[in-house]
Amino acid sequence: MELRPPAAADQVLAELLDRLVALDYNFVTPTPATHQRYLQRNRRRARSLRDIFGWSLPFSPADIDADLLALLERGAFIEPQGHWLRPLIRVSSLGGALFVHSAFPTLERDAVFFGPDTYRFAAFIMRELPASDGHILDIGAGSGAGGISAVRAGKAARATLLDINARALWMAGHNARAANIAAETTMADLTALPDQTYDAVVMNPPYMVDGEHRQYRDGGEDRGLDLAVSWTLAATHLVKPGGQILVYCGSPVVEGEVLLAARLMGELGPEWRMEASEIDPDIFGEELDREEYRDVERIAALGIRIEGG
Ligand SMILES: C[S@@+](CC[C@H](N)C(=O)[O-])C[C@H]1O[C@@H](n2cnc3c(N)ncnc32)[C@H](O)[C@@H]1O
Repeated sequence: MELRPPAAADQVLAELLDRLVALDYNFVTPTPATHQRYLQRNRRRARSLRDIFGWSLPFSPADIDADLLALLERGAFIEPQGHWLRPLIRVSSLGGALFVHSAFPTLERDAVFFGPDTYRFAAFIMRELPASDGHILDIGAGSGAGGISAVRAGKAARATLLDINARALWMAGHNARAANIAAETTMADLTALPDQTYDAVVMNPPYMVDGEHRQYRDGGEDRGLDLAVSWTLAATHLVKPGGQILVYCGSPVVEGEVLLAARLMGELGPEWRMEASEIDPDIFGEELDREEYRDVERIAALGIRIEGG
C-alpha cells in the first residue's frame, strides 16, 4: 500500500519522532540483502520498537501501548497484514539524530531512501566540509540526512533540501524539525536551476541501472551515470566562488577506469579542481550479474570534492 499522509499525519509524525527521541530509540539500517537475511532468520512478530520501526516486522495490536497504536492509526502509518499490523515507515539513527523513511522493502517508485550509502555520504560530509555558518544545498536529499547532519555538525547554519519526491520532502521536513535545525524543503528536478547560490552543495545521487525506475535508485543512461554527471555540472552553477561541491556516488569500474571520475574530468571546465577517492572499492557486487553491467569489474563508492569556479 502506498503511504499517503492524511491531514492528521503531520502532527502524528512529529509526536512519534519526539517520542522515539525521548525513548533513546536507535536503529542502524543495513543493506537490503542483510535486512532480508535478518527477516528470513526471524519469521516472527515484533517484540520491540526496534523490531517495528527498524526491522519493519509486523506486530499484534496487543503488543504495543494503546496510545502508540492510536497514534499510528491516526497517521495511517500501519496497514493490516493477516491478523497483524505492518508498519509503513522506518526510523533510523545517524550521528545521534533520527530519520524517518520508508519501511522495508522499498519497492515503490517513490520510496524514501535511507541505507548504508546514507551513512557513507554523511561520513564523507563530516570529513570534508569545514565548519561554517553558511547555507548548504543537499540535492536529492531524500530523508534530508546529508544536509541535516551537516547543520547539526556545524558545517552550515541552514540547509535547503531539494528532491523530486514529495513524500521524501515531507519526511525530510519532519526530520529537520526533530533534529531542531534550520532547513527548508524545495521540490525541483534541476531542469531549471534554483535562482540562488550556496556555500556548499552536497549530493548522493541515484547511480544504479534500475529496470523498475525507482526515483531513489535509477541513475539513467550510461550504466546509471548520467544523473550524477548532470547534477554535478548543475552544482557548478549553484555553488558560490570558494565553496565546495561534495559528490558521494557509486561508479562502475571498467578495465581499471573509474567511469564517473573519468567523465567528470572530461566535462568539468579547467576552472574546477576535482579530487576523487574510493571510499569503498566494491559495493552492490550482486548487481554485476545484470546484462547492463557485463563489462563492469566492480562498482566503487566514490567521494568527490570539487572546488574552484
Ligand atoms: C540515493 S537517494 C539519496 C537520498 C539521501 N540523499 C541519502 O543520502 O540518503 C537519491 C535521491 O534523489 C532523488 N531524486 C531522483 N531523481 C531526482 C531529480 N531528477 N531531481 C531531484 N531529486 C531526485 C530521489 O528521490 C532520492 O531521494
